[in-house]
Amino acid sequence: MSNIEVQDLPETPPAGPVITVDGPSGAGKGTLCQMLAAKLGWALLDSGALYRVTALAAQKQNVALDSDNAVAKIAAQLDVEFKVTPQCDGVEVILGGENVTSNLRTEETGAMASQVAAINSVRDALLERQRAFQQPPGLIADGRDMGTVVFPQAELKIYLTASAEERGQRRYKQLIEAGKSANLARIIEDIKARDDRDMNRTVAPLKPAADAIVIDSTSMSINAVFDQVQQAAQKIGLL
Ligand code: C5P
Repeated sequence: MSNIEVQDLPETPPAGPVITVDGPSGAGKGTLCQMLAAKLGWALLDSGALYRVTALAAQKQNVALDSDNAVAKIAAQLDVEFKVTPQCDGVEVILGGENVTSNLRTEETGAMASQVAAINSVRDALLERQRAFQQPPGLIADGRDMGTVVFPQAELKIYLTASAEERGQRRYKQLIEAGKSANLARIIEDIKARDDRDMNRTVAPLKPAADAIVIDSTSMSINAVFDQVQQAAQKIGLL
């Protein structure tokens, strides 16, 4: 028999529900997650940003991306801060005191992130950091393994995908509209290479959770995707 009285136990804060959104890059997860977080007033976890920041930190410290132990150590000790911009129109990422926001979203950083993300010990090092985002009134978790590994008990799991060609077109359009130069064939090739790395790695490969709702957005607008997810959330009383 334990002598510990129930009232002596530390109180576990209520965790709050989770909606996971997984899928390949460029499927619209980021936009969908921002729309859901705004609609519900829930917190948002952009787990890809943690892998991106880990890769940038390794690069900054001249650590090779295939040095498993050294990169895992960097992931475990990551000094990163996600700050809502003063204009409240996005999030600024501060790594070791340096604002790395402009480097974070580039294709090059995405490709480096997918290399460090294939290292088992890096994923382990980031696991609790990701789970710590769960908080009331709820969390929208954006990534590749949110529904399969990080939040397997999530109330609602979405797997959002689209053809590589369509995802490439969307990315191309974004770059051109931002006044940048872009090569569509090259973008599609890069997307396919990243899909291949993310889907075929041995640890936490990208795949839909067995209980996920799979949405193919190839010929859907983001608003139609949002409506479908809202309906699913309503059905189980989250909205
Ligand atoms: O989503 P984003 O493009 O920012 O992710 C960058 C890379 O980080 C992905 O290509 C993937 O390799 C990795 N990642 C992951 N697991 C997550 C989120 C991202 O492996 N939950």
